[in-house]
This record gives sequence, C-alpha cells and structure tokens, in this order.
Amino acid sequence: MTPSEDDWASLLAAAQGAREQAYAPYSRYRVGAAVLDEAGRVHAGCNVENAAYPEGLCAEAGAIAQLVMAGGRRIVAAVVVGEGAEPITPCGGCRQKLREFADGGLPVRSADVLGWRGEHTLGELLPASFGPAHLTPRGDDYAD
Ligand code: THU
Repeated sequence: MTPSEDDWASLLAAAQGAREQAYAPYSRYRVGAAVLDEAGRVHAGCNVENAAYPEGLCAEAGAIAQLVMAGGRRIVAAVVVGEGAEPITPCGGCRQKLREFADGGLPVRSADVLGWRGEHTLGELLPASFGPAHLTPRGDDYAD
C-alpha cells in the first residue's frame, strides 16, 4: 500500500501532536512518531524518559506498541518529529523495531514543528538488515 498525501498529512499531524505529549525532562529533546498500518490507520507515540536513563522509551516504540495493540501487523509509512539543527532520523534500535513490521522499502519521513525535513527508506537507514525471515528454518540440509 502506497501512502497518499492525505496519509502523510495525517501522520505528520499525529506525530507533531504526539511530540507535544513527550516526557523528556532529562534530554529536553521531545520526539513524536506516527506509523501507518496496513488498514490505513495511524498510530502515534512520544518519547518517555526515566530517571534511570537507559529505561527511557523512544517515540517510535510507543507508536509501534499502539499499532500492535490495535491489531496492526505491517507498517507502510513512518514519520518521526524532532526539533534541532539536524533533521531527526530514527535511532538504531528503532530502525530495527520498524524492521520487524516492514521491509527495506518502508518510507520514513523526518519532520519538525514547521514541516518535512527529509525522507529515507528503511533500507537506507538499516542496510543488510536482520529480520523475521532469518528465523525461518531452511530445508532438509539445515542443521543446528
Ligand atoms: N529519541 C526518540 O524518541 N526517537 C529516536 O529515534 C531518537 C531519540 C529520544 C530518546 C530520548 O528520550 C531523546 O530522544 C534523546 O535521545
């Protein structure tokens, strides 16, 4: 499913709105994310930091959890919103989390409060990635 311009507009609004809810008292770097599922539904999340720093959650993780909770199993478009000198891109861990529900063709757009800042495919962000198919057993010659 190719996202329409209306889908992108909905994703941008959802991710910008999610960013408003961010809990980021330590980094002060507020992030919102939104993902479009195979049924055309939008799911959003924000980063949620923690006094025990490594326990913080990225915005993408929240959005993906919402997608799964709603019964979604594929991500067909993703948007991440942050505010800074460099356009935001998903962190390494979030690239892998997106990969679970999408292949390398997934379009991932970056934005800030004013609008679009960039676009990559997941394949560009995470080349030669490890995914669910790697866990599929081979034929008779497979031995572990
Ligand atoms: N962050 C995200 O939420 N998503 C990303 O892809 C990049 C980083 C958050 C984590 C942390 O709360 C803050 O941004 C600074 O790293």
